[in-house]
Amino acid sequence: MATIEHVLGDITEQDTDAIVNAANSSLLGGGGVDGAIHRKGGPEILDACRKLRAGHHGGGLKTGQAVATTAGRLKATWVIHTVGPVWSATEDRSQLLADCHHNALKVAKDLGARSIAFPAISTGIYRWPVEDAARIARAATENADIELIRFVLFDEKTLAAYRP
Ligand code: APR
Repeated sequence: MATIEHVLGDITEQDTDAIVNAANSSLLGGGGVDGAIHRKGGPEILDACRKLRAGHHGGGLKTGQAVATTAGRLKATWVIHTVGPVWSATEDRSQLLADCHHNALKVAKDLGARSIAFPAISTGIYRWPVEDAARIARAATENADIELIRFVLFDEKTLAAYRP
């Protein structure tokens, strides 16, 4: 049964074994969390992502899926990249957002990671309403088989939504 923490902060500063990147399907970087992780983690991370693209992730990472790379210069050992769903008012993509959490936790377990930090996946550029994303994230992580899950929120509003 995981200990679950909610902190206000920068996910690139976290010393958990793994940190989760809110990536896009290209795995070749972007803004927000993705931009911060690549900027601070250094080129090793992008090199590893490029190798994934050259290998069995040739077509890019599908929404809801997760894959790990080195964390480069970051304190964490691994970055687990996952692609959140873009918010849609007409299509219920909730299962895909839950899958991001389930699959990131599965990758973490396969790696032997004992702690993992999650950002508020899909609530930035992908415009998912924060309250709903928090509900999905909570449900998807409540019985996780890992020692520590830390939600790292970037502003007070998101922290208030994610903190039970
Ligand atoms: N640490 C923690 N949280 C952060 C950080 C950071 N350094 N930077 C941004 N955030 C927060 C945002 O404020 C938001 O609450 O992470 C949440 C997710 O926002 P985004 O990073 O925009 O991720 P998302 O909404 O999933 O959109 C993914 O954005 O950066 C691109 O390449 C990425 O195309 C992909 C898309």
